[in-house]
This record gives sequence, structure tokens and C-alpha cells, in this order.
Amino acid sequence: MLSKLIVAMTLRMPKWFVRWVSRRYVAGSTLDDAVRVMKRLEAEDACFTIDVLGEEISTMDEANYFLEEYVRVMNSIVEHDIDANLSIKPTAFGLLIDEAKGFENIESLVRQAAEHDMFVRLDMEDHRVTTETIQIVLKLHEKGLTNVGTVLQGRLHRTLDDITNVETGLGPMADYRICKGIYLEPENIAYTSRGDIRKATNDAIKEALAKGAYVGIASHDQPVVDFSLKTLNELKMGPGHLDPRSNAGAERKGKGPGYEFQMLLGVCGPLRRKLAKQGHRTRVYIPYGEMWYEYSIRRLQENPTIGLQVAKAFLMPWSNRP
Ligand code: FDA
Repeated sequence: MLSKLIVAMTLRMPKWFVRWVSRRYVAGSTLDDAVRVMKRLEAEDACFTIDVLGEEISTMDEANYFLEEYVRVMNSIVEHDIDANLSIKPTAFGLLIDEAKGFENIESLVRQAAEHDMFVRLDMEDHRVTTETIQIVLKLHEKGLTNVGTVLQGRLHRTLDDITNVETGLGPMADYRICKGIYLEPENIAYTSRGDIRKATNDAIKEALAKGAYVGIASHDQPVVDFSLKTLNELKMGPGHLDPRSNAGAERKGKGPGYEFQMLLGVCGPLRRKLAKQGHRTRVYIPYGEMWYEYSIRRLQENPTIGLQVAKAFLMPWSNRP
């Protein structure tokens, strides 16, 4: 209750206040801000994936902006020698305006990234584009671009079938981020209770690992992390081991031994640092961009527990950093 009240109050505060609160979750408004944050977090043994803030667009000109900005990001990663890859939203590249042109834009970025041996992750948006997003990955692999993968959302009923289908198409090159899914989807296509979503996410992580895929375990939920560690242990996967799965792909640049843990900037740092200390590869999702305000407001609305973080930031301002 208290948390929800604080969130409601924060949403009515001036922009500068939201900016101050969000500095924990958003690297800043410029690429230089993102580089600065990553350079600092390198000391915590983290690697990164960068997200230029912004989602569904209304004109293809906006898609050009994202394409150009991501090329700048890519060049900056190379220039600063940062262990990082890219996370993109297909709708920001025009998928819902002109599917063919959207695909062309994404292909162009993935092709340029391939020249640097850099991976591109297609974030998964809401159910309107689930099939299309998976299809883009399959088509790019068919064209020989294997430095691309997508995200599967545990909450969707279809996810175990998607793992089987993608496995048929990509075999050992399948590479997913598996998360619960942030979009509140209707109950005819998705689990809606907390317990069911957690169980379905665990099932998806287990299935993808069993099928030999590379798996980015993207959760801050301790039971999901514990379940993943237990599953890795059963598969004899873990820090210091080469991936022992006979159905897995070859080792890949910038990747862990068949899996990695992924977390959002500013969320559950102690858990991430603990996993890193145990030797697990940990990747931080780094959002930055001019759209920081919209992103921050959405996060506040989606996750009312942030209210307590806001209160803490106010009472202990020195603690309000990623
Ligand atoms: P849960 O929601 O139970 O959170 C566990 C605890 O973590 C909470 O109690 C809270 O303390 C903390 N927490 C979680 N999220 C927080 C937040 N945003 N701010 C502050 N605290 C938070 N989804 C999607 O649909 N498509 C995608 O492409 C991605 N990509 C993605 C990348 C990465 C690296 C991560 C970690 C997550 C995503 N997600 C996503 C979001 C994901 O689907 C999910 O909504 C969130 O991770 C929250 O789910 P948890 O498993 O963390 O559990």
C-alpha cells in the first residue's frame, strides 16, 4: 500500500525528481552516460547489453534514428573495448509499420554487428509481435547471420512449443534470453498468477538448457535463480566448466559456458554480485536515451515495489545509484 502511494506521488512530481529517482535504473540520456556506467560496473565482473530507449514508432524515419544510434553504440563498444552486446526492440525498427522494411533495418544492424563478432538480442515485446520476432531470428540464421537471438517469456503458454520449434530450425545455435515477460497478457494466452508465471519460467529455462540452447537467465526472483542453479548443477554446468552438453553449440565469443545470468541496471545488485563472485557470467541490461522519462514512468507503474526504493533514495540519497 505504502509503496503504491509513493509511486502515485512520484508520478505527480516534476521531471527533475523522476530523473533523480530513475538514475539508478537508467544510465542517462546519452551514449557517453552509458559508457561511463559500464566502465564503473566492469569492476564488478559484469558484462553488458545496451538498450537505446524507445519502442513502437509511428514513422519509418524514427526507425532510421534507432538504426544509426545502434551503429554508434556498436562502434563505441569496440572503441572502448567493453564486453557488451546489443538489445533491440523490433518495433523500434519499424516491424509494425512495414514488416519488410523493419526486417531490412534489423538485418542491416545484425550484419554490421557480425563484422565485429557482436551479438544482437531481439527483445520480446507484446504478443502482437511474438511470432514475427521469432521468424526474424530464424530468417537471419538462414541467411548465415548467427549472431542473433531472441527472448522468450515464461508467462506465455506457447513458450515451450517455441523452444521446440526454434530448436528444430537452429539446433545448437539457438540462443535465448528467458524471462517472465513484462507485458500483462490476456489469460487465454498467458499465465496470470505469480506462482504459475514463476513455474512456467522455470520450466522454460530447464527445457531450453536440456535442448542444448545458450540460455540467458533473466530474473531477479530468488526462487527462479535458485531453480536455475539447481538445474545447472544437475546438468553439470557451471563456473569453470566447459559446457558439457553433447547437444550444445560451440563456445561463442562474449558468452558463458552455455548460460549466463542477466539483470536490469539498478535491480538486485547484491544478488548479481554474489553470482559473479561464484564465477557465473553476469550481464547487466543498460538502458539509456532521450526517452528516459517515459521508460522511468513505465517502470514505476509496472513495479509498485519501486515505491520503497524511492523512499529509500529519499532517506538515504547516497544509496541511489546502480
Ligand atoms: P519479479 O517480478 O518477481 O521480481 C523479483 C524482485 O526483483 C522484485 O521483488 C523486485 O525487488 C525486483 N525487481 C524486478 N524487476 C524490477 C524492476 N523493473 N525495478 C526494480 N526492481 C525490480 N521482459 C520482456 O517482456 N521482454 C524482454 O525482452 C525482457 N528483457 C529483459 C532483460 C533482462 C536482462 C531482464 C532482467 C528482464 C527482462 N524483461 C523482459 C523483464 C522480465 O520479463 C520481468 O518482467 C522482470 O525481470 C521482473 O521479473 P523477475 O523474474 O525479476 O521477478
